[in-house]
Amino acid sequence: MKHSHKTVYQIYPKSFCDSNGDGWGDLQGVIRKLDYLQMLGIEYIWFNAMFVSPQRDNGYDVADYRMIDPRYGTMDDFEQLCQEAKKRNIDIMLDMVFNHTSTEHEWFQKAIHGDETYKNYYIFRKGNADGSAPTNWQSKFGGPAWEYVESLDEYYLHLYDVTQADLNWENPAVRQEMADIVNYWRSKGVHGFRFDVVNLISKGSFEDDPDHFDGRQFYTDGPHVHEYLKELNERSFGLDEASMTVGEMSSTTIENCVRYSGANAHELSSVFTFHHLKVDYKNKQKWSLMNFDFLELKQLLNQWQIGMQEANAWNALFWCNHDQPRAVSRFGDDKKYPKQSAKMLATCLHCMRGTPYVYQGEEIGMTNAYFTDIQQYQDVESINFFNILKSLGKSEQEIYHILQERSRDNARTPMQWNDQPNAGFTDGTPWISLTSNYPIINVNNALADPDSIFYHYQKLIQMRKTYDVIAEGNYVPLFEEHLQVFAYKRTLKNEELYVINNFYGSPCLIQLPEACADMKILISNYSDTKAVDEMTLRPYESFVLYQSK
Ligand code: NOJ
Repeated sequence: MKHSHKTVYQIYPKSFCDSNGDGWGDLQGVIRKLDYLQMLGIEYIWFNAMFVSPQRDNGYDVADYRMIDPRYGTMDDFEQLCQEAKKRNIDIMLDMVFNHTSTEHEWFQKAIHGDETYKNYYIFRKGNADGSAPTNWQSKFGGPAWEYVESLDEYYLHLYDVTQADLNWENPAVRQEMADIVNYWRSKGVHGFRFDVVNLISKGSFEDDPDHFDGRQFYTDGPHVHEYLKELNERSFGLDEASMTVGEMSSTTIENCVRYSGANAHELSSVFTFHHLKVDYKNKQKWSLMNFDFLELKQLLNQWQIGMQEANAWNALFWCNHDQPRAVSRFGDDKKYPKQSAKMLATCLHCMRGTPYVYQGEEIGMTNAYFTDIQQYQDVESINFFNILKSLGKSEQEIYHILQERSRDNARTPMQWNDQPNAGFTDGTPWISLTSNYPIINVNNALADPDSIFYHYQKLIQMRKTYDVIAEGNYVPLFEEHLQVFAYKRTLKNEELYVINNFYGSPCLIQLPEACADMKILISNYSDTKAVDEMTLRPYESFVLYQSK
């Protein structure tokens, strides 16, 4: 089956299923749940970083790229997982965190002890004459992006946490190390790779940032990034025709993504981009709240769909991941219309052009965590910003409200399997609190209800396999100015598909295009949808019409 027909499921291993009662998810836990994933119909599992790591940033601070963190299991467990997945027609995608390593990585340890070879693996710079950091850049997790090392009298760059030191991709030895790591996992039969913030690997000039003070203009989609990706492709995954890759692109452009993922670019198969997930950032600030801007959301998604299609490049499609709040709480209504709005969001996304990703728990409508105590938060970014917002004079009440909407921990609570203690995730003490609604929102309940969100996802995933128009059709936006409706058309040869979604909990009137008159309904989130030319869409009503002429 072609990649365009496949759906990927994302597992956050720490929170998926714990088989040994230590409160952490593990690989044996995942193996137990493979039948469930096969039933959902997905064909790839992307695992968040699960290599040896001090876990300052939950695995995105890698200390050994070739070893599974023992808390997840052994290499034998990993090999067993690959075999069991393969039996179920499921491939594995691993997370390559190549912009930085943990400061506990052997390379960094050698570097700070003065080994010149390894110092050149990282980005060390002298401070300014007055001793201040080389530039004014800010870390994405708050605070300065440079850390001083007294013994060397130099600073090293860390765009993320102080324990995540940026690698120096200008150094050919670093680039070869990265290709070797990919090849190591390829030799274990892995075909899928996700590359963490990979558009930040090529730093440009080291200057003070006069505009945003964060420096991103100097290292985002940097001067040699395309060259480096082509080289990595040529030396590693590009040698495997079956490979499937996705690059996580921070604050990027369509123009660059066309180059990253264009059909003949020889870089990556696809890209994750985030513009559509910033439409509720007030003044573009993650930690300032506002209601999402629907017209902007629609405009951005349409723009990316068309821009990538015109250049034959490929998007990853997603609402949720381990860094984002839960979509049903964010763009839907998790209180009044949890089922309808979760299904609407799924339909809207899964019928687009690109590869859909389902983040664990999304398929049963898991919501934000709504934690009420800072002790419940585990995420380094959330804790940093709790302190930063406090120092800016915000009240705790206000800060809790912001974290309840924005914290990455909203996505990281344990998978809700059943209504038993700890939602069936663990027999021990979970590493992070559960979301309290698990007695109602859980896999057992979802499987017992023929009308559940789970079966809606199952159907959408199947539809992509069945209808070429979903996997490969042309994308045309409809109702672009409508204040409530997100609609589009897909066409391929003699096939036509219309996707209509009411994004709000209030009804609205639309005039369907004439072509819809005799079309068949493939899926809907109401059991009695009737597509008539002038129709009132009910709260979050969403359906797909199809015809083959
Ligand atoms: C993006 C990852 O998705 C996120 O979880 C991580 O904190 C940063 N990259 C840094 O590696």
